[in-house]
Amino acid sequence: NHHRWIAPGKNDFRSPCPGLNTLANHGFISRDGRNITIPMVVKATDGKTKVAPGVIHGIGGLTTTFESDLQQPNAPDSFTLDDLKLHGTIEHDASFSRSDNALGDNLHFNSTVFNSTFLQSNLSPDVYDTTSVGQIMQERLALAKQANPHLVNTVKERQSQLLEASLFLSVMGDPRTGVAPKKQETGINSSHLRFVHIFFREERLPLEEGWKRSPYSTNTASLAKLMEQLDKASQTKGPWLPSSLLTCPW
Ligand code: HEM
Ligand code: MG
Repeated sequence: NHHRWIAPGKNDFRSPCPGLNTLANHGFISRDGRNITIPMVVKATDGKTKVAPGVIHGIGGLTTTFESDLQQPNAPDSFTLDDLKLHGTIEHDASFSRSDNALGDNLHFNSTVFNSTFLQSNLSPDVYDTTSVGQIMQERLALAKQANPHLVNTVKERQSQLLEASLFLSVMGDPRTGVAPKKQETGINSSHLRFVHIFFREERLPLEEGWKRSPYSTNTASLAKLMEQLDKASQTKGPWLPSSLLTCPW
């Protein structure tokens, strides 16, 4: 099968984004992670995940902007997946599944980071939703602050995190409700049945486990609704405050 999952080879580029890496691992964008354009990503995400083109253009616009400004003035329309690790552009601290730039590796899946919050999340045993993921965001930020005194988490990074959380809940679950199964209802208890875990850990579409592309579109309105729920659910232990206020010398 042309679109079967294949792990990246050692000369293939990957990104800090599990979504784009999944598309590359299935060959919906180039498996080598090179010469990626936003129209390619739009086509791949629309076909495979029903994320609206406007959303991808929104995120992708940032990519080509920093690319043309900072990296390859002669090739502003395409990028490599590896380019996306440039810290402070889209890439930010306190990611769900990656360590912080200041701590060394902001690119690769890090099971210690991922497990530190996702495996403790027992709010509801069978699904992830905006409540449990909001709690994960809160815990992850607290842990990241302890680990990295240089952590940056301003409104910009906060909005990215809320968007990314909404994106994985929408793509692995239902974009209308933000509910994503941890395991198949009829399945035997097996970590291989956990859509969200498979998405992050293997950067794979859990097709064999029963995942299907949602018939409902993930668009700016559906994402905004989930982002608002996540925003609330991630402030049960106190209001979110931008990191720069905490470190502001004045
Ligand atoms: C991060 C999902 C599209 C660039 C993330 C994260 C998720 C995600 C869940 C957070 C990872 C973590 O915190 O560990 C998706 C999905 C997409 C999508 C489901 C579409 C189907 C895109 C596009 C771009 C992009 C179009 C840019 C061209 C990034 C970057 C990060 C990221 C640079 C790293 C941010 C960070 O955690 O530091 N994405 N994404 N993503 N995404 Fe995507
Ligand atoms: Mg990051």
